[in-house]
This record gives sequence, structure tokens and C-alpha cells, in this order.
Amino acid sequence: MRVRVPGDKSLSQRALIVAALADGTSRISGLLCGGDTASTAGALRALGVPVPPIPADGSELLISGVGLDGLRAPTGALDLRNSGTGARLLMGALAGSDLSATLDGDVSLRARPMARVTRPLSIMGARFEALGQPDRLPITVHGRSRLASLEWDSPVASAQVKSAILLAGLTGRAFTCVTEPRESRDHTERMFNAVGASVISYATDGGWRVELRDPPDRIRPLDFAVPGDISSAAFVLALAALGAAGDEVTIEHVGLNPTRTAFLDVLLRMGADVEVHDRTPAGLTEPVGDIVVRPSGLRATSVGADEVPRLIDELPLVAVLGACADGETRITGADELRAKESDRIAAMASNLLALGVDVEELPDGLIVRGVPDRALMGEVRAWHDHRIAMAFAVLGAATGHAIQVDDLTVIGVSFPGFDRLMKTLTKER
Ligand code: S3P
Repeated sequence: MRVRVPGDKSLSQRALIVAALADGTSRISGLLCGGDTASTAGALRALGVPVPPIPADGSELLISGVGLDGLRAPTGALDLRNSGTGARLLMGALAGSDLSATLDGDVSLRARPMARVTRPLSIMGARFEALGQPDRLPITVHGRSRLASLEWDSPVASAQVKSAILLAGLTGRAFTCVTEPRESRDHTERMFNAVGASVISYATDGGWRVELRDPPDRIRPLDFAVPGDISSAAFVLALAALGAAGDEVTIEHVGLNPTRTAFLDVLLRMGADVEVHDRTPAGLTEPVGDIVVRPSGLRATSVGADEVPRLIDELPLVAVLGACADGETRITGADELRAKESDRIAAMASNLLALGVDVEELPDGLIVRGVPDRALMGEVRAWHDHRIAMAFAVLGAATGHAIQVDDLTVIGVSFPGFDRLMKTLTKER
């Protein structure tokens, strides 16, 4: 069976924001039409950008950008709901804009740390006022049209932090330089380069360094086709590798940016039968291709700090696969998982335990002792987290046993149509 998954969430979020700041009309197809992009699009509209509704079928969307100085003060708070990327990247763009705006979110987003972004942006000259708990949304950003330059050593490998700083450098016309301990996804760098804001990146002793040396006064509009999200494809890959989706599944037109593909390496180490066909047309800034997967027995593996940034969102799935694989699967160096839509280490540990899996919670990861072909059943919680909900929906479908996830509505933030696709795929059995 050949399937497609919704557009990449990280790329869709960036495309909306970059198009909003461009001079001229951007053409973007394949955008994710999900809860998170709806939140970002809604916030941009409130900031005066005419963003039409995102088409549900991936057809082309035209966005007339307002330019780097064109965002307008909103009349009410911007509600980013569940979207950490939307909130943090907009904080960056707003830091270099001459206006004040309050950002808020749902119960999950209100629990997530914001100082990782507000601290560097404050040094550049923006001011932040936390209206509730310190370091948490709701936060009012008081931006400034010209910001000071910044050289920032980020303690975490986070593309959201890096992108917020680069966006502040762009709107605030400031030299910005970020060093992260390991390279995180580089979509912002590629997109900036495509619209005329030159970013250079290179390895240093301290990690990975990214520089926006000479921010331009205007950026060109985007002409971009968003590929399928490899982080969504990962759920289909896991389902098929576990033998719950027939003899062979091909996922077409998936983003294959090397800063995102470590889950494929993990699958191969676990003994999965996976093939990648690169189909990147010349000139495309983001690599794309098809991924073919067939069922196979799985063995345990280890994932450590070096690999974590390249599969951060797939780690709940690695734990779920670990429960079905032969041996002890170890995830370490992944303390960032505690700062996601939920504390994903605690969420995975408690859910796996509820299903009778032998699991150990570490400060920075998990150890899962898997037993192939074991019946797993019970009730688990989504913890307001789309990826936790989907990981256990896949496990339930794959083991063929009753796993009840308490809330599947959260899946809509990144994977509209998940339920329908799962039903289609599992009918293939
Ligand atoms: C994202 C970066 C990652 C990832 C998130 C999307 C992005 O977060 O977990 O789902 O689009 O930049 P961090 O940058 O906090 O690691």
C-alpha cells in the first residue's frame, strides 16, 4: 500500500512565519492543516498578516507578507494553544518588532519553560513580563525595532531556541550567533538562505555554531512545497515494522532532512526492513523521498545523547518499539523529553508500566525490557500530548490487543487523519 502523511509541522510553522515577514506574495503548498499551524496562522492574523485559511488538501496557499517591520500590535492575547514552536518562534519575531504582545497557551504549553528563549532575547534588548508563574506563559513581549547583537551559548540543542534567536536577529536587524551542544534541525537556516537572509553554520569545539551575520532589510517571498512529516511517518513505519499493516507500506514524499532522520537509523539497528528512495528534485532546499517498510522481528537497541536531537520527537516510539523488541532498549541523554508537550519520560514510563511492561525511568531516559509477541492491554493516558497518544495507539493496533488511550483528540495538532489512516493500514493485515 502507498500512503502519504500530513505536511511537516516544523517546516509549516516556519513557512507561515517567514512568509508573513517577506516582501511580496509567498506560494506554499503541502502545509500541515492541523491544530498547531492553525494556532500560528491565527496569531499571525492577529498581528495584521492576511493569512487565508490553510487548505485541508495541501493545495497552494498564497500569503502576502507584511515585511520585516510590518507586524502590528494585536488587540488581545495571542493564543498559541498547544504549539511550543509557534510560541517560541513568534517570541523571536516579536522581540525585534516595535510593539507589545501577550502570548498564551493551553495547560500543556503553560507548563513549558520559556526562559531558554526569553533570556537570550532580553540580552538583545527585548523585554518580557511573565503574567503568571515566572518563566511560563502567559508572557507579554515588549519588542524593539532594533536589537543588540548576540553571541549565545545555548545549554540545550533546541531548534526552537536557535530559530527564535535567528528570527529576532532578522526582525531586529542584529548580528546573531548561536552555539548549541549538538546540531538541532536546521530548517530555519535553510529557509532563511532561500529568501535571502544568509546563515552560515559550522562545527566548533563547543558544538555547532550558526550565524546570521548581516541581516537584510527585506526578505524575498517563499516558493515552497512542504514535504510529509517524517515525525508523522514514524508512526506508520513503526506500525508496519511491527507487522500490523500488511506485507509492505510505502510512504511517499517524506522530508528527509538529515537533522531529522535518526529514527530510520534506529529502525535499521533494531532489524527493521526499511528502504529509503531519495527523490529530491534539483534545487529543492529540503531533501524528500519515499520510505518502504516491511514487517520483521525487532531487537533492542540503545540511543544516546549524540543521536537524540535527530530523533527527539520519535523517542516515545522507540520506547514503544522497545516493548515489542527482544532485549533491553536504552534511551539516555534525553532529559529534554521532560520539557515537551508532556514530561515524555514520566508519561512513557507510567503508561508502559500500566500495560505490564518492564520499564525503568532514568533522569534522562528510559530502559525498556521488551518481550516480542506479548499481549499488552490496559488503559493509558495521553497527558495532553499528541505523540504519546499516537505511540500507544500504534502499540495497541500492532499487538492487536486492547489498549485504551484516554484522549485521542490531542492528535489533531500534528496528524489530522491519523485515525483514518491507521484503520486503512490495519485492514491490510
Ligand atoms: C521543533 C523543535 C523540537 C521538536 C518540536 C519541533 C521545531 O523542539 O521537539 O516538536 O520545529 O523547531 P526543541 O527545539 O525544543 O528541541
